[in-house]
Amino acid sequence: MTTSKKFRVPHAEHNYQGRSCSIAAVGSYVPSRILTNADLEKMVETSDEWITTRTGIKERRIAANDEYTSDLAAKAAKRALEKAGVSPEQLDLIIVATITPDMPFPATACLVQEKLGAKKAAAFDLEAACSGFIYGLEIGQQFIMSRTYENVLVIGAEKLSTIVDWKDRNTCVLFGDGAGAAVLQHRSNSHGLLTVCMGSDGGKSNLIMMPGGGSRNPATPETVNARLHYLKMEGRETFKNAVNAMYAAAKEALDRCNLDISQIKCIIPHQANRRIIEAVGERLGAKEGQIFVNLHKYGNTSAASVAIALDEAVESGVINRGDFVMLLAFGAGLTWAAAIIEW
Ligand code: ACO
Repeated sequence: MTTSKKFRVPHAEHNYQGRSCSIAAVGSYVPSRILTNADLEKMVETSDEWITTRTGIKERRIAANDEYTSDLAAKAAKRALEKAGVSPEQLDLIIVATITPDMPFPATACLVQEKLGAKKAAAFDLEAACSGFIYGLEIGQQFIMSRTYENVLVIGAEKLSTIVDWKDRNTCVLFGDGAGAAVLQHRSNSHGLLTVCMGSDGGKSNLIMMPGGGSRNPATPETVNARLHYLKMEGRETFKNAVNAMYAAAKEALDRCNLDISQIKCIIPHQANRRIIEAVGERLGAKEGQIFVNLHKYGNTSAASVAIALDEAVESGVINRGDFVMLLAFGAGLTWAAAIIEW
């Protein structure tokens, strides 16, 4: 892609002496079971028409009872590792971003480490909801840039079907299960991750939460009966905050890199709602076809969403080496993040 002005690489300005961090390969996995809007019409008072016009979602994937977040994550990871030509034994670190870990502890990343046979890898989870995959990239790149590690695996994985209240039509139509993974490495012929802008606002933590199961509301018959172990969301407020935060993060990332939106080949936003994506795109001045959307197939898969979309964009040939790519996310916390990558 030709650039009209000189772009900056903020990540390289921290005295990293020629080191960069690239995404060597991505992989994704979604369960085979499809839950359509027509299926949901039989479960709650809703309609395909309402879900389609309000969100753009047509169907979502639901994992089997015996298929856990760590299984989804390991399957996506294997695909990414294979494409990168990296064996599990070569991995130095595994980061799993999720809000639906197999259990509160141990970390799902450790379960993935075992499933992959990544014998020398350190492993931990991070929780930044839908922004988790981009947060993971920013954390992972620090280890590559500092020469601490050579191969870092970042995974976004969710089995949201286990925390969705299937009696609440406000939320149950929105979410799905899946996983996406990226292998991070230094590549001498690419700048890789140019910058990542992250932010949070705990003052609005009430907008999206699962109140039960932690130290505040540990599981009791009362918390279960009060349905506290399900995801709760104030949709309208969340919508407004999502548009504002994603626009601001995207703008900051572009400014930091001295890039115009027209120089970005592909924008990969969090796949929560088509109207949110369109509103952000409009404010950024994005052109038709510049934004990758696959939410009609999977709904909102939280931490997995950007990773799955990135994999599909690469596989479909939308993104090629040398292109500038923007990743953009927003989620519970609140959290948000924007990354710009020279692919
Ligand atoms: N079917 C039919 N009607 C419904 C449904 C449904 N599934 N769900 C809600 N409604 C009704 C509501 O009851 C309401 O009726 P009322 O006006 O009589 O009260 C009406 O539809 C409109 O509801 P709104 O909340 O105004 O609908 P809105 O246009 O805002 O769309 C939605 C709701 C889709 C949830 C939207 O607000 C949204 O996408 N919010 C953001 C979600 C998001 O980005 N989440 C990201 C983070 S998720 C995470 O971090 C895990």
